[in-house]
Amino acid sequence: MKREQWNSRVGFILAAVGSAIGLGNIWRFPYMAYENGGGAFFVPYLFAMVTAGIPFMIMEFSLGHKLKKTAPRIFNQLGANLGLRLEWLGWFQVFIAAIIAVYYVAIIGWTLSFLGFSFSQSWGDDPNAFFFEQYLQLGNNSPTNLGQFQWGIAAAMSLAWAITTMAVFTGVKGGIERASKIMMPMLFIMVLVLITRVLLLPGALSGLNYLFEPDFSRLLDIQVWSAAYGQIFFTLSVGFAIMLAYSSYLPTKADINNNAFMTVLINCGFSILAGILIFGVLGYMAEQQMKPLTEVVSSGIGLAFVTIPTAINLMPLPQLLGPLFFVALVIAGLSSHISIIEAVISAIIDKFHLPRKTAAIIVCAVGYLVSMAFATSGGLLLLDLVDYFINNIALLLSCLVELLIITWMLKVNLVRRHANHCSEFHVGRWLEICLQIVSPAILATILAKNLYNTL
Ligand code: PHE
Ligand code: NA
Repeated sequence: MKREQWNSRVGFILAAVGSAIGLGNIWRFPYMAYENGGGAFFVPYLFAMVTAGIPFMIMEFSLGHKLKKTAPRIFNQLGANLGLRLEWLGWFQVFIAAIIAVYYVAIIGWTLSFLGFSFSQSWGDDPNAFFFEQYLQLGNNSPTNLGQFQWGIAAAMSLAWAITTMAVFTGVKGGIERASKIMMPMLFIMVLVLITRVLLLPGALSGLNYLFEPDFSRLLDIQVWSAAYGQIFFTLSVGFAIMLAYSSYLPTKADINNNAFMTVLINCGFSILAGILIFGVLGYMAEQQMKPLTEVVSSGIGLAFVTIPTAINLMPLPQLLGPLFFVALVIAGLSSHISIIEAVISAIIDKFHLPRKTAAIIVCAVGYLVSMAFATSGGLLLLDLVDYFINNIALLLSCLVELLIITWMLKVNLVRRHANHCSEFHVGRWLEICLQIVSPAILATILAKNLYNTL
């Protein structure tokens, strides 16, 4: 059977960017920056983008493009060359993707609820209290109350699952790909509109200072580096079997380096825009409430759900702009969620030769049940914990092992040779230095520290 292929270069980039751009850019990036000292986070973030983000993207595109398989079979084949059994590494990545899928959908549920609220700005004048106390009901969170089920959130999550299930059940091209082509540019424009308004507010610039002013004293804090590397893998969807699967559908004649740079730069550029928006609003809120910026929002995890309603309240025509913004955000979240589920399904189809529809139903049904744990009043706590564990331990471990196998056990220049062979512009030896030395050294250090702290 002939393997499916993308129709066009643009089709592939849009799919890769569609997976990359998601809630990680608007919900997770600002909250990571907020919790890690703003400017203190920004420098490691850019450093991680150059030393790990771009090289990893080139590496995964090259592997998928060359071997034309999904992760478990790719690592199986690479292992066979070494006389090792490495299929488990692929399954480990698929497992990480599956875990992300079940909590990611909870945040999509929040965005769907907020889409509903946005028609009449029912978040009121105090979006902070609204989000944490009314919506998540954290106020009455005594330890005995943690198991309480939150029907509203569960309903919103069910809607998200229904859409994802339909998309992976029938194939992604028609609906989501077409919707993304319209919605992604719209999301960009919406963020720019909101930024323009927000930058004119008193205090906004002090928010930007907080985000962009490097704090070199915190560069010695490994936690900040850990958050930055974790965020880069999360935001770029690398290390999860996804980009491997997507690039396995590339036609033979495809420009690897160019595609990889475009995907990374578009995604990270978008995160920076979102950061400007959110920190601009924070600066404004800090000035209004005469509080330090770090005390304006009660917990970083809900940052976006407090600042964006605050910004929308200040806009002309909020009843129009609000829904437009949240629709676009929902689409960005769903297109990423679909790509995560797709990674799990395609690996299962490849291995067990199940029909697509059967695999889709099984994966979505199990995912649905597990994800309901996040619709309880203990859900936020659990989400924070799982997100931390996945991004600070599991993911770093999987990426470190992937790097060591490919650059130390196989041939170092394997990746660069293939990538350059297929590309118009060539990347230099820095690629190997990053993949073989810089990234593994940093990942190993961070991982050792995180494991030590956890155990
Ligand atoms: N990259 C997506 C985002 O930033 C999320 C995602 C994570 C998608 C992992 C696929 C795999 O929101
Ligand atoms: Na992203």
